[in-house]
Amino acid sequence: MTIAVDIARTTPRTVDAVGVPVASEGAVPRAAGLNRAALATHGFDGKLGQTLALPTGGGTTTILVGIGKPGDLSVSTLRTAAAALARAAAKRGSVATSLADLDGVDARSAAQAVVEGMVLASYRYVELKADKNSASRLERVTLTVGPARAAAAANGAERGLAIAEAACLSRELANTPPSHLTARQLAERAVELGRSRGLEVEVVDEHGAAELGLGGLLGVNAGSVEPPRMVKLTYTPRNPVGHLAFVGKGVMYDSGGISLKPSDPMHALMKMDMTGAASVLAAMSALKALKVRAKVTAYLMCTDNMPSGSALKLGDVLTIRNGKTVEIHNTDAEGRLILADGLSLAAEEQPDAIVDIATLTGACLTALGQRIAGLLGNRQPWLDQVKSAAERTDEPVWQLPLAKEYRKLLDSNVADLRNIGGPYGGTITAALFLNEFVADVPWAHLDIAGPMNVDADEGWLSRGATGFGARLLIDLAANFKPLTA
Ligand code: BES
Ligand code: MN
Ligand code: ZN
Repeated sequence: MTIAVDIARTTPRTVDAVGVPVASEGAVPRAAGLNRAALATHGFDGKLGQTLALPTGGGTTTILVGIGKPGDLSVSTLRTAAAALARAAAKRGSVATSLADLDGVDARSAAQAVVEGMVLASYRYVELKADKNSASRLERVTLTVGPARAAAAANGAERGLAIAEAACLSRELANTPPSHLTARQLAERAVELGRSRGLEVEVVDEHGAAELGLGGLLGVNAGSVEPPRMVKLTYTPRNPVGHLAFVGKGVMYDSGGISLKPSDPMHALMKMDMTGAASVLAAMSALKALKVRAKVTAYLMCTDNMPSGSALKLGDVLTIRNGKTVEIHNTDAEGRLILADGLSLAAEEQPDAIVDIATLTGACLTALGQRIAGLLGNRQPWLDQVKSAAERTDEPVWQLPLAKEYRKLLDSNVADLRNIGGPYGGTITAALFLNEFVADVPWAHLDIAGPMNVDADEGWLSRGATGFGARLLIDLAANFKPLTA
């Protein structure tokens, strides 16, 4: 699926649908063709995300789109309204909509938000279906805007397209079933993408991992027929401003290992346990197009987690890249083991800041639900940058404390650490575990177990994998400010 976006002064005559934004208060635009009372009889009151399709004489359908209260208009509400328009126009090939009269949001941000909303809402995973009709047929979007703001709108639209396509790439990877996307295949995709998107790519196989001392990655992979991969991606702009590192959990399928998960429906979602790595790869793929000024290094830690005669055992002790030893008490707490290696590698380069992203704990899903990611870390100003990126992208996060008083729950009798804490505060103890591998580099951890998936379409979220984090990470890199010590 690709959607082409144009900027024009006037609505093209051949367009299949015209979207007309209508607020819930104030004047109804003339293009709507009906007054507020008439709209109300159709059950349309301009509430955010409402749509009403009005066939007109010619071939063009007018689609009214609710944008809510005029005073509430923002990038976020525009993105949501645009998503509703895309869904209402999904059976049509082309749609045009005006960016005029969107008071309070500049043309560049408005165009970016509208394109993001439309592209994200048009996404559907249809790769393995014979009948691709459930996919949107929308192919062309025209944004109309006056000449003074055309250049800004074009720039915003271009950014919106690059960002939304990255998020869709993460979704596509996460929706792909586990036997269709192994660690080796993901590494191949990374090599191809790196080549076309101006990234340096280094793939480390099981032999290389042994040489590097990636004991966590190899330990988790021990039960698997499929070998692991560590993929390092580097984006180096000219005269970089700061250096950022991303680490993504890439568990291609999480069976739990010998601490086998029960067969409940949640576990069919464990193909998405590589969403962190997918969102990191997707974000990296967009940095050059967006002219990001920071240098960014990324580590994708990829393996499945399987039970077998050779699998990791309880009581086993692994040695992580940074030399710390970990006693295994539950093989289903595997994400932190591979992240430990990734974070150690990232910290060795002494970047200005690290962020890791992982579908790490069911406890985070329990605490914050399916829409909000957990955020923890070791430096408040860096966490504040992550929060700002989350707000701008509408990928919500909520900070939890990195409570040092719980660190003793990770003490082991035989090793430096054990891989699980007690029954409570699982998201915090997981983050405390990771904290042992970041040296003293400013670090933020995103636990995306909750928002990795949505059950049904809603706004610009399309059912299935959400690609959570791809847009947040892009925004974070694009707005990165090296911290002052
Ligand atoms: N991948 C899971 C976490 C998960 C659960 C993600 C539900 C998305 C939805 C992770 O590897 C895991 O199994 N975590 C365990 C940790 C426990 C054994 C300490 C969990 O949360 O139960
Ligand atoms: Mn697990
Ligand atoms: Zn997992």
